[in-house]
Amino acid sequence: MERLPGFRDFYPEPLPPGEAWSTNVRTHIFDSWRKVARRYGFQEYDGPPLESLELFTTKSGAEIVGQLYNFLDKGERSIALRPEMTPTLARMISACERAYKKPIKWFAIPQLFRYERQQKGRLREHFQFNADIFGENDMAADAELIALLIDTLRALGLTSDDFVIRLSSRNAWQEFFSSRCHDSSKAYEFYQIIDKMEREDPSKSDALLQGMGFSMVEVQQFIDAAVPTVELQTILDNLNARGMAEFVRIDYNVIRGLAYYTGVVFEAFDRKGEFRAIAGGGRYNNLVKLLSGGKVDIAGLGFGMGDVVLTELLKSRKLLPRLGSHIDAFCRIEEESLRSATLSLIQTLRESDLGIDYPFTPTKADKQFKRAQELNASNVIRLERSESGEIIAKVKDCKTRVEQVLPIAEVATYLITNKSLKSDQASKG
Ligand code: HAM
Repeated sequence: MERLPGFRDFYPEPLPPGEAWSTNVRTHIFDSWRKVARRYGFQEYDGPPLESLELFTTKSGAEIVGQLYNFLDKGERSIALRPEMTPTLARMISACERAYKKPIKWFAIPQLFRYERQQKGRLREHFQFNADIFGENDMAADAELIALLIDTLRALGLTSDDFVIRLSSRNAWQEFFSSRCHDSSKAYEFYQIIDKMEREDPSKSDALLQGMGFSMVEVQQFIDAAVPTVELQTILDNLNARGMAEFVRIDYNVIRGLAYYTGVVFEAFDRKGEFRAIAGGGRYNNLVKLLSGGKVDIAGLGFGMGDVVLTELLKSRKLLPRLGSHIDAFCRIEEESLRSATLSLIQTLRESDLGIDYPFTPTKADKQFKRAQELNASNVIRLERSESGEIIAKVKDCKTRVEQVLPIAEVATYLITNKSLKSDQASKG
């Protein structure tokens, strides 16, 4: 049985030959996302992976609707696996926003599913860090989100040499559009042409633009001028005050494909332009109102950062630390008569929050040593009966090779003290 195309198996390190996706790397990235989100005062939320189909068909836009994994469930309901988190979040906010003080600052790490053509950086499933703010119209919130996005990438070791945030505005494009076309129902169609322009054959974009009464030349002039709107200048000044100016540039090529954006939009890209977008987001001030049938009117803004491109970028910049499994101690059992006493010690150590392993069945001494090495154990412990018949523990530090002989009751304290000493030394050195 093969796994489905575009889906991933995640293995623990060291990875089996031919496999690319590691749970250790995934944990490393998720931990970093969570750490930085909390630094910015964001709280974690979550929602269901299955939603009613309608939640996505009405508000997300044609591209994502074409990529939906949808089906009828056994109760004849039309449902879909979530292709993005924003509609779920908007649904949750419209149901419960009154229970929370504003501005609401929330994050999540959902797994998302899109039936899209598999290519570099795009799979049929990915994890996405989402950070969103509700109830704030001031551009200070847009700047805060962009700063969070920058710091999330910096926390993983990336610098302004590696990535850039391309900042744009649907309002600027809206003005451009309405000064030349008075049929506002066509605006999203126009935005989609702009969104695809960088990846599309120029003659095709030109034909599409002409079909709507625009010329490629005037569109290109507008992009090249890159004059920041007042709201974009406010964001640039805010980021400048944080010393983050070098990470951002105005770029009207960005307009975003999703239908619901209403204001500032942005995308993060690698500087060399080797990869697809690392992250994207913007303001969506009408989405909650639309989904709540007009009952709740609250401004929203946010971004999503996928794990696929990010992992590829970190790998290519050699920014993934050596990540493997590790345990605090391996308990060798050489004498089966000491198995019960060893199990009792193992239980005490695990209750002290130490990572412990041991052989399930009688095993030769050399195999036990090998297993301790494979598991990357910091210590090897063996129980012995002393001459007076008392059971004692021999604890060997695998790095220094120093062995301590201890009463069983002191093993946990010894391991904990030793561990915190080592982690202090590591953080100083
Ligand atoms: P999006 O631009 O569709 O935005 O996705 C955001 C990021 O998710 C992309 O930049 C990319 O890193 C990753 N991504 C998207 N599709 C795939 C895929 N098929 N395979 C791998 N990675 C992918 C949204 O989803 C918005 N809901 C983000 C948002 C949150 N806007 C406001 N709040």
